[in-house]
Amino acid sequence: MGNDMGALAGKVAVITGGAGGIGQAIAGRYAAEGAVVCLADVSGADAQQAAADLGGEAFGVELDVTKEDSIAAMVDLVIERAGKIDVLVNSAGLYGLQPWLKITAADFDRIFAVNVKGLLFVTQAVGVGMVARGSGSIINIASSSGRRGNPSSVVYSASKMAVISLTQSAALGFAPHGVRVNALAPGGVVTPMWDRVKQLYSDAATVPGGDIDTSMAKSVPLGRLSVPDDHVAAAVFFASDASAYVTGQTLNIDGGLALN
Ligand SMILES: NC(=O)c1ccc[n+]([C@@H]2O[C@H](COP(=O)([O-])OP(=O)(O)OC[C@H]3O[C@@H](n4cnc5c(N)ncnc54)[C@H](O)[C@@H]3O)[C@@H](O)[C@H]2O)c1
Repeated sequence: MGNDMGALAGKVAVITGGAGGIGQAIAGRYAAEGAVVCLADVSGADAQQAAADLGGEAFGVELDVTKEDSIAAMVDLVIERAGKIDVLVNSAGLYGLQPWLKITAADFDRIFAVNVKGLLFVTQAVGVGMVARGSGSIINIASSSGRRGNPSSVVYSASKMAVISLTQSAALGFAPHGVRVNALAPGGVVTPMWDRVKQLYSDAATVPGGDIDTSMAKSVPLGRLSVPDDHVAAAVFFASDASAYVTGQTLNIDGGLALN
């Protein structure tokens, strides 16, 4: 049974990219805080396995955020199973390393389809029910890459800046309806995505010495990369009533990389 004393007791949360590193960590903490959690991921089998591993009140669903019928089916299934959606975490995302002169239209479309368009339409599909019920909290996973342009990950960086913009626009649009929208902007997080980032940098040989972990850690004021657990407390805060007067914010969780 769920934790009925937890910060998220009685809430139902959907986490896109729930089979991924950050999504899974957030799902685990949400379940421990008493939420019923739906892990939704393009890899439905991984989402189901991750939900089973959580042990709390969690279930996995296959969701492709680039497909409107898949989004609608996910929302229907969660409503059927859990009755409502109180919290949405948009964590599904794709990384890409393409410098200016090598970007293709296909790279652009692939990354924006998930990171921007997918996030927007999942938010819209879940937002309809939240607006009708007059409450809800949406948490977008942006990135420190969205705080500053980057000569190597041009499209990814632009997509994450777009996530910050969508966070602000949704916060303003939904505020009159009691729905809050905030974002996290993580720096480097050691997850399966981070392994791909490292591989791409090493293939492109753009990091002197080839050791991106060391060079990144050196550039972080707190002197290290992060782990998924570094991000879960803020995700609980934004989901819970403790942040009832906070909306439209993007919180840097990056060891001091971005200052605002
Ligand atoms: N790892 C980092 O260094 C880092 C830093 C800043 C921000 N982020 C962001 O955090 C979020 C989570 O990243 P992560 O590190 O956990 O990555 P990850 O690759 O471990 O997880 C991402 C998940 O998204 C899923 N996904 C991809 N396309 C999808 C689609 N079309 N529909 C549904 N699910 C889809 C993947 O299957 C995967 O399980 C992403 O938005 C990422 O951009 C990551």
